[in-house]
Amino acid sequence: MDKILVLDFGGQYNQLIARRVRLLNVYAEIINFDDISLDKIKENGYKGIIFTGGPNSVNDPLSPKISKDIFKLGIPILGICYGHQLIGFLLGGKIKSTVKNSEYGKIMVYKNESPLFAGIKKDSICWMSHKDYVDTIPDGFMVTAKTDNCSCAAMENEKLKIYGVQFHPEVTHTEFGIDILKNFVISICKCEPNWKMENFTTSSIDKYKAELKNQKVLLALSFGLDSSVVALLLNKAIGKNLTCVFVDHGLLRKDEGDIMEKLFRDKFDINLIRVDARKIFLEKLKGVTNPEEKRKIIGKEFINVFINEAKKLNGIDVLAQGTIYPDVIESGKGSSATIKSHHNVGGLPEKIGFKKIIEPLSSLFKDEVRKVGLELGLPNEFVYRQPFPGPGLAVRIIGEITEEKIKIAQDSDKILRDTFIKYGLEKSASQYFTVLTNTYSVGVMGDKRTYEYCLAIRSVTTDDFMTATWTKIPYEVLEEISSRITNEIKGVNRVVYDITSKPPSTVEWE
Ligand code: XMP
Repeated sequence: MDKILVLDFGGQYNQLIARRVRLLNVYAEIINFDDISLDKIKENGYKGIIFTGGPNSVNDPLSPKISKDIFKLGIPILGICYGHQLIGFLLGGKIKSTVKNSEYGKIMVYKNESPLFAGIKKDSICWMSHKDYVDTIPDGFMVTAKTDNCSCAAMENEKLKIYGVQFHPEVTHTEFGIDILKNFVISICKCEPNWKMENFTTSSIDKYKAELKNQKVLLALSFGLDSSVVALLLNKAIGKNLTCVFVDHGLLRKDEGDIMEKLFRDKFDINLIRVDARKIFLEKLKGVTNPEEKRKIIGKEFINVFINEAKKLNGIDVLAQGTIYPDVIESGKGSSATIKSHHNVGGLPEKIGFKKIIEPLSSLFKDEVRKVGLELGLPNEFVYRQPFPGPGLAVRIIGEITEEKIKIAQDSDKILRDTFIKYGLEKSASQYFTVLTNTYSVGVMGDKRTYEYCLAIRSVTTDDFMTATWTKIPYEVLEEISSRITNEIKGVNRVVYDITSKPPSTVEWE
């Protein structure tokens, strides 16, 4: 399989670069510039290298650099933004920085003849985000594109197959960005486009069949997409040698635990242990109102319950985890800023002391995991369902968590989901749920005064969940939801709709 190395210098679009290359059916992996030696690069047999962008200035002595011997490996290189400037810097060009020459956003780029730009329009819009620029190109290079403000928007040394672009071909705002990447990966690096998810699924099954022969494997199955796909993959590879433990903390959506258990037992015949830990979680969460504290208690208790269960099982050597590629990168293994540390990358294993950990999906992005899930027979509606947070309904019940409040949250959420599906809204909203506010309000029912909970509806539309807008739900749908909730759910006499975007709000209330 041909591979492209995405050498990470800390840019915010690094994952996108790898995603785009994989969309061309060529495998790409992101490795921090400091985590791989030139010998290893050679040994791994990459057909091409992409230097990513990054927030630094190459003239800063502390900025991330790589040995210029990388250019002697004879592997084609494409530098993007910081990567482009780094090529210029390492090979003897001059990089300058002025506010006057900075460019942000969509900029018209004028391109010359180049194998990188073959078959695309010469003048087109590209996404720029830079203050530094290549002022003097290195010997042997020629300028292949410019903008009104930047005399070197692209450069190349065709003989050495080294290319640099100041703009970002990986973002969709760049017209023909994917064509530029395709020219590099397929025409210049001569990669065979044969990376396909079907190959991944069958080769992973074969790999684990051979690797885990007679070994017993344990998996914490949350019924989220990632752990569910690992369960199905390993079930195909090793069958009953896989034991899945589902810790039921009682904070899932209405009936979800039962529905998923039935699916996994009946359709997939998976070796599954369901641990009813509802009482333990309720006990630990008693009197707790602080959102962060709730999250921490749930995370910690999940591990405790799982470890206790694991101890009861004898002869298990291997722990399987549903880590996916963005988890690995976001946990700070790349050089992008650490966003959050996932406890499924580390944490758990050291405490349990398994001999081996396997992470079958650790090279895949979410949409790739979805494809594997579909291939393994997971139903479409499961694979594309809205995300659900790890701490579950606990972050949608404000204040203390009680059995009564969980029931209200579950029942109202079911009404909301059913109504969204009835009106075909489930495709236009990315995530929708109810929030049990901790507020009481006065109402009137059958001539009697009531003093009951006020419940909020939250629905957002978003591509990436980093930013989101509230969904424009038609009034008649809102009316039906409100009417059903106040009529059918005991303890709620008022429904409000949350009309805040993210930012300044977050999607979840806690
Ligand atoms: P926020 O509330 O941060 O949510 O705007 C963005 C997305 O992340 C989900 N979310 C979580 N997912 N564990 C998860 O697996 C969590 O602790 C968690 N908190 C929020 C949220 O549902 C939304 O999709």
